[in-house]
Amino acid sequence: MSDTHITRPLFDQVMVPNYAPLEMIPVRGEGSRVWDQEDNEYIDLTGGIAVNALGHAHPELITTLTEQAQKLWHVSNIYTNEPALRLAQKLVDNTFAEKVFFANSGAEANEAALKLARRVAFDKFGIQKTEIIAFYQGFHGRTFFTVTAGGQSTYSDGFGPKPADITHLEYNDLSELEKVISDKTCAVILEPLQGEGGVLPITPEFAQGVRALCDKHNALMIFDEVQTGMGRTGELFAYMGLNVIPDIVTSAKALGAGFPIAAMLTKTCFAEHLKVGTHGTTFGGNPLACAVAGKAFDLINTQEMMLGVKHKEQLIRQHLEAINDEFSVFKEIRGAGLLLGAVLNEQYKDQAKTFFLESAQQGLLILVAGANVLRFAPALNISDDLIEQAMLKLKQAVKNIVNKDT
Ligand SMILES: Cc1ncc(COP(=O)(O)O)c(C=O)c1O
Repeated sequence: MSDTHITRPLFDQVMVPNYAPLEMIPVRGEGSRVWDQEDNEYIDLTGGIAVNALGHAHPELITTLTEQAQKLWHVSNIYTNEPALRLAQKLVDNTFAEKVFFANSGAEANEAALKLARRVAFDKFGIQKTEIIAFYQGFHGRTFFTVTAGGQSTYSDGFGPKPADITHLEYNDLSELEKVISDKTCAVILEPLQGEGGVLPITPEFAQGVRALCDKHNALMIFDEVQTGMGRTGELFAYMGLNVIPDIVTSAKALGAGFPIAAMLTKTCFAEHLKVGTHGTTFGGNPLACAVAGKAFDLINTQEMMLGVKHKEQLIRQHLEAINDEFSVFKEIRGAGLLLGAVLNEQYKDQAKTFFLESAQQGLLILVAGANVLRFAPALNISDDLIEQAMLKLKQAVKNIVNKDT
């Protein structure tokens, strides 16, 4: 079948219906622009859901990928490989971590983190220390363990008996955590900014309080930085701006800037509990993925890039506020760096999908986070000029919706 026969209806014929993709099919991208099969152009403020941190088709990533492709694609973990060790060294040199485990997706990195926490507790304190505390609206992936840790039971219901001993609490409510956490708790898992759950930032007091309570009860503090990591919030990892050092940090999404790879970062004293044979994954540490991630790491981990993220955050916030001054559609603009959410007000409550679809009509790709929040997660290197153009399109989309309403 040639490309010209690939149409959106084919999705419904041949794909498992767990996604509902838009009608248009993107076929190429450059920087923060994307083109569909009909050559319609879109500005991309989705960044592949916080993945394409350096935009599409970044020339240096293409060079790195093609150079590695000519050398070694895959060797299995019977061997180690140079790109994996190079990337691990960069992660160790630039974070709290002393040890790295590579996986392929955010869920897998979190799965490893939760298993490690259980194993540390089992080895050091015995079989009774198994409780994992997680938070409502949190999102940690779709494996059965991680989706059960996630804070929306609708995602984990209906698949049979769930992994046991996971307790959910209110995010940012330290007194509730204080009441529930105990010496039976082996880990507290949380995002430093709930992405899927509505772009809800953590308070520094809560982050620091979780740290203190984990210390008190010998529980591991797991920061899920799958969405916030690799520069998204204007820090290399969000924990760096919160004055806390977690025991485990997970990273995925932007780590490979579009090439699938994930990592679990931790300290030696915890890592040593995953002895040979206790955990693994075929593709973890794949040379192609690690080579691309290594180059992406160098390009993202610069002061210029981090300052750029903070500057662009202000630019987008100003535009969103100006749109709101004119059309009164948002209740609040929140988030950090280039992970921003515009919460719809009472009048437009739960209509995020309408704004998403109308934006696409205007040639603008945005995200939603639940039914009530518009989410923006563009490439970290998007230009100011493209942000201005994107915001004009968003303004037109908002205007159309408001006019339809009156
Ligand atoms: C915070 C967080 N954790 C974990 C995941 C799961 O990552 P993946 O879809 O790569 O398994 C996501 C995905 O959106 C996420 O935002």
